Amino acid sequence: MNPAPNLVLVGPMGAGKTSLGKRLAERLGLQFADADRDIELRTGASVGAIFDYEGEAGFRARERAALAQLLAGSGRLIATGGGAVLDPDNCRQLRARGFVVWLQVGVAEQAERLARDRSRPLLQGDDRLQRLQRLAAERTPLYAQVADLAFDTRGLAVAEAAGALATLL
Ligand code: S3P
Repeated sequence: MNPAPNLVLVGPMGAGKTSLGKRLAERLGLQFADADRDIELRTGASVGAIFDYEGEAGFRARERAALAQLLAGSGRLIATGGGAVLDPDNCRQLRARGFVVWLQVGVAEQAERLARDRSRPLLQGDDRLQRLQRLAAERTPLYAQVADLAFDTRGLAVAEAAGALATLL
């Protein structure tokens, strides 16, 4: 295992940060933490409700605080939200306090995995594919910049991906 205090998963919605992350944490004996879930537990509100009441800026401020707190600890596998890399301060902290793995997924597979999910505030509306494409264009360079390792999840089931990724760490 690499010497960074935490393992951090970044990548777009539907890449498997939460589902694969839970399995990987188990395999590696790390404590699993999900930044979005952490925010929901602290506020008692869903990510969607926070976007509704406080706007995206309000959510991003909460995300920054949650990540800083999770990263201050050690021995965690931290699943970040897809937009965590938008903030350069977050990126610096992720790198300083974690080994950062970028989970890659194609837009088509992302849309498929998220087809029945109505909870993502940035995917409300009928033009999901275009939205996912826009987000990918904006964020792919940011994921590439922050990542220590890129792992392509395309075509892999969750357990398969967790197993393959574990061998690389
Ligand atoms: C977001 C991704 C979500 C969540 C919020 C914003 C984004 O997390 O943080 O809806 O900006 O891509 P997941 O990547 O876990 O879905």
